[in-house]
Amino acid sequence: MIGSANGVAISITGLGAYVPDRVLTNDDLSTMMDTNDEWIRERTGIRERRIAEPEQALSDLCLPAARQALADAGLEGSEIDLIIVATVTPDMAFPSTGAILADQLGATDAAAYDLSAGCTGFMYAVAQGYGMLAGGLANKALIVGGDVLSKILDWGDRSTAVLFGDGAGAVVLERVADGGFLGFELGADGSGGPQLYLPAGGSRTPASEESVAEHLHFVQMNGREVFKFATRVLVSSAEAVLAECGRTIEDVDVYVPHQANVRIIEHARQKLGIPEEKTVIDVDRYGNTSSGSIPLALADARADGRLQAGRLVLMTGMGAGLTWGSGLIEWTAGGDG
Ligand code: ACO
Repeated sequence: MIGSANGVAISITGLGAYVPDRVLTNDDLSTMMDTNDEWIRERTGIRERRIAEPEQALSDLCLPAARQALADAGLEGSEIDLIIVATVTPDMAFPSTGAILADQLGATDAAAYDLSAGCTGFMYAVAQGYGMLAGGLANKALIVGGDVLSKILDWGDRSTAVLFGDGAGAVVLERVADGGFLGFELGADGSGGPQLYLPAGGSRTPASEESVAEHLHFVQMNGREVFKFATRVLVSSAEAVLAECGRTIEDVDVYVPHQANVRIIEHARQKLGIPEEKTVIDVDRYGNTSSGSIPLALADARADGRLQAGRLVLMTGMGAGLTWGSGLIEWTAGGDG
């Protein structure tokens, strides 16, 4: 799917982020499994990640991020009429974490649901929120991306356990006078699904003694195949959305790629020809937070002063599905804090 904005100016007017307090360093991991700081840093660029407490579920991470985004936009929860939570680790299969969050925020007039598109979830959800606003179905949307991947990792599997962290981010979308989203490109290649999946717990393989014994409730990944896919789509999706919107790589002021691995980001950055200083990287501190990755990186970019009104921001996500998605936005004053 690809398209450019249809003339209705819609932008991010509020931004918030939250990560759990507990820091897990590479050295900590090396006491838990056969790994070491040097391997993890060289192969991934990750130094540490945040891990939720046993009693913390996704909504506990989303709520502070959402409250921050609402305060940033100057809105009350009751003014929101659409809530989408992008995640692969909802509090439970149902009710949706979106509905739980709506209740916590007092968003009694909102449609609220979850969206599953792996680590691309946030980009899918932003595009959907944009479409709802542009189509006149909603006026003020809260889009949350977050995951608590620590809860679905096999802590005995060093090939996945070292890569991920927990976190959530949220944005408010509203109509603005001008600027805002220029377009989106989203895609999915379901044939790549087995490269990154959680085999059990759904209707294909319901929970059973065997599924637990065989560790089927944890993330399984073919790292090399996902690496190849990621480097390819980060480039092709970014180029596609820029072409669709009549912009070039030189026009991009801030590049916010999905934070999975510094090597993947570096490959895409060089292939695209985006200077290092325009690229946002925080995977070293948070690991791969899946749907939380892009909004957390946006919050970081704003904190260091890079998100100024008028700047062109390119965001690209990729992940399970396999899926990918890019969005291009001219940052607006409402979203610069
Ligand atoms: N510590 C130490 N050694 C390890 C570890 C570890 N944590 N993990 C694997 N190794 C070993 C392997 O066993 C292997 O040893 P061998 O050569 O004796 O067999 C060696 O290191 C090399 O392993 P590779 O898998 O070939 O290492 P590679 O350079 O491919 O890096 C990595 C692995 C980091 C997983 C990489 O493939 C990658 O980043 N892939 C993409 C993963 C990703 O981004 N996933 C999420 C994207 S989508 C989403 O966000 C959900």
